[in-house]
Amino acid sequence: MLFLLDTANVKEIARCFDLFPVAGVTTNPTLIAREKRPFYDILTDIRAVIGEGSMLHVQVVGTDAETMVTEAKQLRDRFGAGTFPKIPVTPQGLKAIRILANSGFHVTATAIGAPLQALLAARAGASFTAPYVNRLDNIGADGVGVVAGIVRLFSAYGLSTKVLTASFKNVQQVLDVALAGAHTATMAPELLNLILHHPLTDSGVAGFNADWAEAYGAGVTTLDLASV
Ligand code: E4P
Repeated sequence: MLFLLDTANVKEIARCFDLFPVAGVTTNPTLIAREKRPFYDILTDIRAVIGEGSMLHVQVVGTDAETMVTEAKQLRDRFGAGTFPKIPVTPQGLKAIRILANSGFHVTATAIGAPLQALLAARAGASFTAPYVNRLDNIGADGVGVVAGIVRLFSAYGLSTKVLTASFKNVQQVLDVALAGAHTATMAPELLNLILHHPLTDSGVAGFNADWAEAYGAGVTTLDLASV
């Protein structure tokens, strides 16, 4: 499963790209609006940080297919071939996905709440489908179950469309979609950090550091001892 960052915050993206094996960035209108900066400046900065080789998923905001298609084309012109227009699975959105896929665009079908929506989007030619795990859990639906259903459908019908799981609030949800066979998970930087938090890891590293410092001195590394 690939890891993506779900944020439009350039500082956080730079920090996470430096530390983690992140395959790209997803944004949505809410995340963009939160930054309180001009839309194109934000995306230009994100592209500069992640480079041409990383995926950048950007949502269109038009509500009719024609506008969505034009937005998608403009986004790809400005931000390169690794830019995936995100299009919600409305009837107009589905039409836009089909038009774009037929002209060679890689599209991410988003705001998915049910397996059949993902199957329709895949049939329309979407490269990725994005089910919203935590938002489903919050309305008493089974977010991970929806992801598992999509994975099963794509595999049963031999579809190459990938499942880009989104909307997570805890590490357990991320683990559960990975076990269900999701191809990609996008999450906030804080959640990515939390994956590495484990009491055993923390106490283990603290113990090693303390024992080493007592024997060789605080701040001393193996490099300092090379000539001894
Ligand atoms: C996915 O593409 C969306 O950007 C996002 O994951 C929604 O997450 P939220 O439920 O945390 O807003």
